[in-house]
Amino acid sequence: MAIGFIGTGKMGAMLVRALLRAERPVEEEIWASNRSQEKLDDLRLHYPRLRTGSNGELAEACGTLFLCVRPGDTAQALEEVRPLLTRRHLLVSISNVVELERLAEATPCRTAKVIPSFTQFVHGGVSLLIPGPRSTDADLAYLRDLLEKVSRTEQIEESQSRAATNVVSCGPAFLARFCTEWAAAAYEMQPDISLEQWESLVWDTVRAAADLPRAGIDGREMLEEVSTPGGMTYEGLLAMDAVLPEMWREVMRRTTEREKALKLAFQL
Ligand SMILES: NC(=O)c1ccc[n+]([C@@H]2O[C@H](COP(=O)([O-])OP(=O)(O)OC[C@H]3O[C@@H](n4cnc5c(N)ncnc54)[C@H](OP(=O)(O)O)[C@@H]3O)[C@@H](O)[C@H]2O)c1
Repeated sequence: MAIGFIGTGKMGAMLVRALLRAERPVEEEIWASNRSQEKLDDLRLHYPRLRTGSNGELAEACGTLFLCVRPGDTAQALEEVRPLLTRRHLLVSISNVVELERLAEATPCRTAKVIPSFTQFVHGGVSLLIPGPRSTDADLAYLRDLLEKVSRTEQIEESQSRAATNVVSCGPAFLARFCTEWAAAAYEMQPDISLEQWESLVWDTVRAAADLPRAGIDGREMLEEVSTPGGMTYEGLLAMDAVLPEMWREVMRRTTEREKALKLAFQL
């Protein structure tokens, strides 16, 4: 059965593109719908194999439906397909605000959650796979196989999703902020090297450091190898120790609070 993506904004379009470019081909037809037509036209221009239609047409054509709209648009999107949804559909939410119990109460579908990451744009990183009410082992195996065409896949429980999302899905943005601030500080100290050059130096360093664990050198060993007690790296690490643990705790706390508030406001 075909796979449908309702909503081709940042995440929906990224997933559609990644799957259509996957090295292990996706045998199923891929369908997409979106509230505004331009985003679909743009995708079709680049990916002529993509089928597009209304939300209703997707519900008729596809056995698996990925709901890739924002939480505030979820009720409306579901309203448009509700009469067509049956137990034959596997309905996949990509939002932590949409609780699977509520999705299963509102529809007759088998349900699951997938938290994607922008890193799938380059066929990397980790997708989180979360079983929901009525999902079967076959559904989870099917989703795992699909996601592994574009990422590593980690199955977790919905209750673990906030912390895991903060790592694999918010991660690219957190890392980008960390790296751009790092480049900006270097530029402030040494402006005769351009900011673009500093950014390229930072990202090349991050890329190579990220490969070291594959050579058997983990984070702890990197610290030992690079930092000599009493040296300059050591001093820099002391400066980081003064702020980093508290910063990450605050990131975890605030994202959790924000998710709670959005869940309270969420209506289906
Ligand atoms: N961005 C990330 O890295 C990321 C990662 C993991 C999960 N998520 C989750 O993914 C969800 C979508 O996020 P996003 O960043 O992709 O948002 P986005 O860029 O705003 O995309 C949402 C898309 O949904 C479309 N839409 C709204 N109502 C619709 C309807 N009734 N029928 C069909 N399409 C409809 C919108 O169409 P228009 O063109 O009319 O606006 C828009 O293109 C959110 O719940 C977010 O939390 C995002």
